[in-house]
Amino acid sequence: MSTLKENLLKKIEAHRPRTTRLLKEYGDVKISEVTISQAIGGARGVRCLVTDTSYLDPMEGIRFRGKTIPETFAALPKYPGSEYPSVESFWWFILTGEVPTAEQAEEVIADFKKRRKVPQYVFDVLRAMPRSSHPMAMFSAAITAMQGESIFAEEYRKGLGKMDMWQPMYEDASNLLAKLPVIGAFIYRLKFKDDSQIPSNPDLDFGGDFAHMMGVDKPYDDVARMYFILHSDHESGNVSAHTIHLVASALSDAYYALSAGINGLAGPLHGLANENVLRWTQDFMKKLGGQEPTEEVIKKALWDTLNSGQVVPGYGHAVLRKTDPRYTSQMEFCQKHLPDYPLFKVINMIYKVAPGVLMEHGKAKNPWPNVDAQSGVIQWYYGVTEYSFYTVLFGIGRAIGTLANITWDRALGYPIERPKSVTTAMLEDAAGVK
Ligand SMILES: CC(C)(COP(=O)(O)OP(=O)(O)OC[C@H]1O[C@@H](n2cnc3c(N)ncnc32)[C@H](O)[C@@H]1OP(=O)(O)O)[C@@H](O)C(=O)NCCC(=O)NCCS
Repeated sequence: MSTLKENLLKKIEAHRPRTTRLLKEYGDVKISEVTISQAIGGARGVRCLVTDTSYLDPMEGIRFRGKTIPETFAALPKYPGSEYPSVESFWWFILTGEVPTAEQAEEVIADFKKRRKVPQYVFDVLRAMPRSSHPMAMFSAAITAMQGESIFAEEYRKGLGKMDMWQPMYEDASNLLAKLPVIGAFIYRLKFKDDSQIPSNPDLDFGGDFAHMMGVDKPYDDVARMYFILHSDHESGNVSAHTIHLVASALSDAYYALSAGINGLAGPLHGLANENVLRWTQDFMKKLGGQEPTEEVIKKALWDTLNSGQVVPGYGHAVLRKTDPRYTSQMEFCQKHLPDYPLFKVINMIYKVAPGVLMEHGKAKNPWPNVDAQSGVIQWYYGVTEYSFYTVLFGIGRAIGTLANITWDRALGYPIERPKSVTTAMLEDAAGVK
């Protein structure tokens, strides 16, 4: 057993009695109540999921295993020669809640290299799809295509004890995660670089190999590490994480669960917003025809969007009520690496103007930017200008937290998810509507 798996087993064994005790002794304690507006309104704020990999505070933003983003980046060992930790060290951290040593991180890097090879039929499936397919449709199809590789599904068919289920789920999660950079870069080069593929480099880590296969020079390897870690987890009520947890609760394997979540991430109100931010900004700059944008012009463009009934992409959030710290973290990267880049200046100008416009508009509960408002400008700067690809990057990142989460779901024996629905007539009865 690998050192990571051994450590994870210890953590699981220590955690199980906590869940058992809560269920047995405190199962009737209330943690939430549900109003009619919550039932109609997408269960906003209803506390009915348990996730230990991360927690999202509305005012503070995300904490991964109890650590804020700056604390996480400061605590994890940096990849040698890099400003950021490796994705593999973060995988150890999000799975176990403990910061790995540099040697332990190195061990995961070596383990992932062995799991990286993608079956040829996946590339064949992708090549058979129309080139006009959206990169997210390709990404989801590639993951589903690999379902036959699932160790969990095979072991389940043979007969698998409930408490042992986490082990094949861990194997599937690791196998799948290690392959995602290869699949992502393949889709990028298939669709946008005439299928001129760059083979994986066995000397490189998850982020470094991704940058290499994309064909983008340093420091894009660090961009990849930062980007994947920032997008990894946002507790489990969001569409992608919740879908992955929900589908896995039927004891569907990690391949089925992840591809389902990727389909949810492809929605414009969720992950696709990062593509839409860049589309919005580029359309806006085209209309300006090379003129320097001013705050007034940006304000007008924002109002035009709102008046046409569209949302301002990259702004607002279902839980957050302040600027997303994932936005801030990427802004700091830009301030360091591309402070004078015109597109970065425009994004900053939008940040100055948009919250005021959204407040005046009076609908959005949170007028502040989310992660998607800032991520595209970095990609654009490093030459990845094909913005329909951006949500695939988000998906590779999102896989890290959610695959860790479903491994824990099986470790703690969580049951199939099945909330109760009611009819509109029942709501009217409850409200005493005549
Ligand atoms: C993220 C988002 C889906 C959250 O939705 P939510 O929890 O329903 O948000 P709110 O409770 O603030 O929504 C209340 C109203 O404000 C509107 N609103 C929220 N964010 C808005 C935005 N960025 N631009 C315009 N209107 C917005 C909603 O559409 C809703 O309008 P309605 O009452 O006519 O249906 C929403 O803010 C949004 O659509 N943002 C733009 C897309 C985006 O950036 N998504 C990525 C999120 S990480």
